[in-house]
Amino acid sequence: MNHLIAPSILAADFANMQRDVEMMNNSQADWMHFDVMDGMFVPNISFGFPVLKAVKKYATKPIDVHLMIVDPDRYLKAFAEGGAYSITVHYEACPHLHRTVQAIKELGCKASVAINPHTPALLLKDIIAQLDMVLVMSVNPGFGAQKFIPHSYTKIAEVRELAKNVNPGLLIEVDGGVDDTNAAQLLAAGANVLVAGNSVFSAPNPTAAITALKQVSH
Ligand code: DX5
Ligand code: ZN
Repeated sequence: MNHLIAPSILAADFANMQRDVEMMNNSQADWMHFDVMDGMFVPNISFGFPVLKAVKKYATKPIDVHLMIVDPDRYLKAFAEGGAYSITVHYEACPHLHRTVQAIKELGCKASVAINPHTPALLLKDIIAQLDMVLVMSVNPGFGAQKFIPHSYTKIAEVRELAKNVNPGLLIEVDGGVDDTNAAQLLAAGANVLVAGNSVFSAPNPTAAITALKQVSH
């Protein structure tokens, strides 16, 4: 399949949210990536339901919700009702991950699990068949515009290998420091959804930056 591009709203101009959502609507972006941070699971607070509602009002593309929060089970229903297409929870935040994944699916959303840079791909072995997507964090979650961690290439290849026989259609999303210098190698390693915050929204022409990521081949 062709890879998907999910610009990260965390890097948008919050005072011009409608403008930036419409830029994504009119671009080659496939999804809009929506980072929720609670100041507990990660050392930063971003935004939640009121902002999701505001984005949803204008967005014409699926909203890919990334929950960097403790005990995400408490809020799955609210994010689903708020218009999430996919919901990603962190492996590190879910003691009953199998139950959490089933709950996301029962709400009608795509179920995805994120792993931090220190979390081995192998820990997904007994859940990977149940997942629509795995999100490989290529920075420590919490902030935009951080430096890409090169070990992520190996991690993505390991996730792809784990999924090969049991879930060949698994999406693998990579999030953090993605730009046109590493995109081709990420796709070659087995990723097929690229999240990009800073490299899109700090570009002189964000629409062109999205097009460039979409046209990367490997
Ligand atoms: C980081 C977030 C990312 C972030 C990526 O904790 O999960 O989605 O927005 O931003 P860039 O592309 O700037 O690293
Ligand atoms: Zn994210």
